Amino acid sequence: MAAPIKFGILTVSDTCFNGTKADTSGPKLNEEIKREFPNSQVIFHIAPDELPSIKECLLKWCDYHMCDVILTTGGTGFSPRDVTPEATRQVIEKEAPGLAYAMVARSLAITEMAMLSRAVCGIRKKTIIANLPGSEKGAAECFGFIKNAIPHAVNVLA
Ligand code: MTE
Repeated sequence: MAAPIKFGILTVSDTCFNGTKADTSGPKLNEEIKREFPNSQVIFHIAPDELPSIKECLLKWCDYHMCDVILTTGGTGFSPRDVTPEATRQVIEKEAPGLAYAMVARSLAITEMAMLSRAVCGIRKKTIIANLPGSEKGAAECFGFIKNAIPHAVNVLA
């Protein structure tokens, strides 16, 4: 049996961080991951829409927790507080534009608003980082569009 994939789910949201809104996207992604990869491990965190907080979590999960895949959810749009792509770009060593392209291309068939995603995907050491939208629906849809490539991508980096 293939080694379990270690995932990190990072919810990026000021309102989820300060407790005024419940995080539903992180738990939804966990549900999808467990369905697709039943023997995977998953760790979670909620960060505010602040570049240093996002970057700190990404670095810790790549370099210390050795996640295979980090899925961020939220902070990829046009709002002035949306900085998840900028934080991701500061952490990755290589871009993986095909993942971002697949998500936007396939999402456009569902909603025109997909063109408002500034998602960045890339690789730091052996960790793949993918930015997903913040809504529960958008996060689940985008995970569905990239999930089939994950086992091969993780094996290639191992
Ligand atoms: N992609 C999919 N598949 N489904 C969605 O509902 N929402 C879009 C887009 N991508 C969406 C999607 C919207 S409305 C926005 S503003 C951007 O993702 C960025 O979302 P974020 O700022 O929550 O990260």
